[in-house]
Amino acid sequence: MRMRKKKHGAERISACSELLIENIELLKNGFAGIFPKDQPIHMEIGCGKGNFATGMSAKYPEYNFIAVERVADVCCIALEKAKSRSDERPNDNLRFIIGDAAALAENIPPHSLDCIYLNFSDPWPNSGHAKRRLTHKNFLAMYQKLLKEDGIIKFKTDNVGLFDFSIEEFEAYGMQILWQTRDLHSTEKNADNVMTEYEKNFSEKGTPICSAWVRFK
Ligand SMILES: C[S@@+](CC[C@H](N)C(=O)[O-])C[C@H]1O[C@@H](n2cnc3c(N)ncnc32)[C@H](O)[C@@H]1O
Repeated sequence: MRMRKKKHGAERISACSELLIENIELLKNGFAGIFPKDQPIHMEIGCGKGNFATGMSAKYPEYNFIAVERVADVCCIALEKAKSRSDERPNDNLRFIIGDAAALAENIPPHSLDCIYLNFSDPWPNSGHAKRRLTHKNFLAMYQKLLKEDGIIKFKTDNVGLFDFSIEEFEAYGMQILWQTRDLHSTEKNADNVMTEYEKNFSEKGTPICSAWVRFK
């Protein structure tokens, strides 16, 4: 996602500081003090402009959500969106991390997450860049460490090449594919689906959305 640098970005981000986990190292001790309620933790990696994280945290007050985005200017938009909709979250159950997913493993206690969402992850179509795909086996190893034993990864993409690659990676890693589709919006799961910004754009153009729910055996 390419964006022009946001004017006054740092000030705008600090105006949303109550939603930001500024020092990820604090998480080494767990999530106490981050959220008012001790609830299952769901994490979105690569949240972009935040529609999914904001919508899900409002829809599911019984979970705590952490949305991770490495581009500060993009996360700034997500933070402002979430802040403008704070009244939808009586449990104050959404926080953001500005940073690269690769830094999560050394800062988040092992087996502390219940669910990881990968939504419209960058496809990195050049095979030389396969290791950057968020469903590459190296990332799967990190998710395995972060997720609870029965934790789930929920993946959505418009990109058939990335979807095929991901299913192969899941299977090669010995993961269990709980559910998959190449047209999410035609399935029964669509009733509970919260759309991301990319998803809205692609589906308005008629592109079917692929999705898979997987877990480690
Ligand atoms: C194609 S966009 C999709 C954004 C959003 N999920 C959506 O569906 O609208 C992918 C996003 O993931 C972020 N991203 C990619 N790799 C990341 C990583 N390793 N750690 C954190 N964010 C990442 C990018 O900066 C970008 O904002």
